[in-house]
Amino acid sequence: MDRGRFTEPLKLRGVKIANRVWMSPMCQYSAGQDGVPTNWHRVHYGSRAVGGAGMIMVESTAIGPRHRTTPHDLGIWSTEQVEGHRTLAAQIKELGSVAAIQLNSAGRKSSHRQPWVQSGQNSAVPVQDGGWVPLAPSPRAFGRLTAPEEMTASDIDHVVNAFAAATVNAHEAGYDVVEIHAAHGYLLHQFLSPVSNARQDGHGGSLENRMRLPLRVAKAVRDAFPPEKPVLVRMTATDWIEGGITLDEAKVFAQRLGRLGIDLLDVTSGALAADAPPPNRQGLNLDSAESIKQVAGIAVAPVGQMADPDLLRNVFESSTVDAVIVGRALLRDPYYALRLAGGQRKEHWPSQYHRAL
Ligand SMILES: Cc1cc2nc3c(=O)[nH]c(=O)nc-3n(C[C@H](O)[C@H](O)[C@H](O)COP(=O)(O)O)c2cc1C
Repeated sequence: MDRGRFTEPLKLRGVKIANRVWMSPMCQYSAGQDGVPTNWHRVHYGSRAVGGAGMIMVESTAIGPRHRTTPHDLGIWSTEQVEGHRTLAAQIKELGSVAAIQLNSAGRKSSHRQPWVQSGQNSAVPVQDGGWVPLAPSPRAFGRLTAPEEMTASDIDHVVNAFAAATVNAHEAGYDVVEIHAAHGYLLHQFLSPVSNARQDGHGGSLENRMRLPLRVAKAVRDAFPPEKPVLVRMTATDWIEGGITLDEAKVFAQRLGRLGIDLLDVTSGALAADAPPPNRQGLNLDSAESIKQVAGIAVAPVGQMADPDLLRNVFESSTVDAVIVGRALLRDPYYALRLAGGQRKEHWPSQYHRAL
């Protein structure tokens, strides 16, 4: 591991991130019905902050009740939720990391069960059991989930306003960074991709039209967050499906986001359609992230199988990406980033643990 580059801080606007390995947003489906963070979230994120991840990206958090993936998602639309996030963000920062939050509307991938209940993300929660009818660009269901309602112009305006309000709440809760979720087949990605967007109005058809809502949201979020705090966008490099978004389209989107003042692009891919899984290979979004950086001219960080130490050695030696974002390796091991940085060397570990080293 090239520790020099790994431990080199990255400054985005007024926020200094201590290293280049960050925790990916991963939904825990563990909020109460009220969408407020619980002890699970505080222990889960707190231990990854102690574990050395430079930035903790709190999971997909809904901008409103109908925008959740499940009834157990975190929300950030109510005062009670903001209070819960205030404790969580303060704890992440006190334990030495930067606190980020991912804001999301699930669109048609909404009202499903927790992944470990029945067939999980493919199993709808019916309205009579506390579920709801999802909203989406077009009435095309995702897999076996409830068919969504096509959004009206006023639903679209409402989404822009709800993202802006959630951003103000994220600032008030103490988060340093917000990330807009425009990937993995959720609402903004559904607008971007012709596979999920069959609209005939100004939001469908050409790339310009399909980008309209995601770009409006990016602008509204940027305007609602203080100038010293960075805004990130999680975007898709490709849909891995015939007729879906290609890297060329993704590059145009990335350029436009850069012009709106977005600070970093978190580059992922896939998950738009139930039958189009991304390939299973190390660093699958790394090349795309590098070529997106070339055209967008802003910082990028790939996510997706970026945890292998040999791969990371090469990335930190020779890639142009600014950081890497790690998901499942950090579920398996909260101290993964510390091990990567320092192995068993004491100076990298909290003093409280030195007698074990
Ligand atoms: C349990 C779990 C929950 C996830 N929840 C989210 C989420 O809330 N938002 C998101 O953008 N991606 C989510 N993802 C995807 C991860 O953030 C990440 O992009 C993916 O796991 C690939 O990275 P990895 O190979 O390092 O795990 C989730 C993944 C897992 C395993």
